[in-house]
Amino acid sequence: VVSAGGTREPLDPVRFLGNRSTGRQGYALATTALARGAEVTLVAANTELPDPAGVKTVRVGTALELRTAVREAAADADVVVMAAAVADFRPWAVTETKIKKGETDPDPVVLVRNPDVLAELCAQRLRPGQVIVGFAAETGDATGGVLDHGRVKLGRKRCDLLVVNEVGPGRAFGTEDNAAVILGLDGSTTEVPNGPKAALADVVWDLVAARLAAI
Ligand code: CTP
Repeated sequence: VVSAGGTREPLDPVRFLGNRSTGRQGYALATTALARGAEVTLVAANTELPDPAGVKTVRVGTALELRTAVREAAADADVVVMAAAVADFRPWAVTETKIKKGETDPDPVVLVRNPDVLAELCAQRLRPGQVIVGFAAETGDATGGVLDHGRVKLGRKRCDLLVVNEVGPGRAFGTEDNAAVILGLDGSTTEVPNGPKAALADVVWDLVAARLAAI
């Protein structure tokens, strides 16, 4: 199971909170898995990419829809890769009619937390021996660098592999290429130089295959 794209959290019938994910990395993971002989379900959130031939594609919009589709497919999957950019929060209220500009200042948008689909899957392990891969889009900040944040996230989510991307202008989102460091729950570190998203996908599948073989 591979999730791809970015969720959109509606505010009203015409507006949403979203992100810059195009879905290309997730699609590359799905098609490279298919090429290796896997049976693939792709849960695609708001991508403009066509359904890849030979892959079961389930289209979703919001984080809650993505969660339902991923969990259903994950129940009998050997591997789950969460490449989708899932919104951490959604508007508390969605109006049935368009929010009008009016004459006064707007009301603040109140947000509520979405479930963390990856962390839930890792805590519950719906299928014994399932290998779970997460992605982390990070920027460094005053509290630490990109890899420091990645290691903290791995400790929190406890997925088997965490693909850490540095984000910034021309990096990761909306680009053709991707560079990453893949952190393993077993302490391993694999550097993937900048290259096509299919090349990163192949490294991910090599690492996943090694873990499946070890079970
Ligand atoms: N993810 C998820 N459910 C969410 C948010 C994220 O399953 N509600 C998954 C993503 O698919 C990705 C991983 O968690 O595989 C990392 O997402 P990221 O946004 O980098 O991490 P957050 O937990 O949102 O942490 P923060 O925003 O504080 O960096």
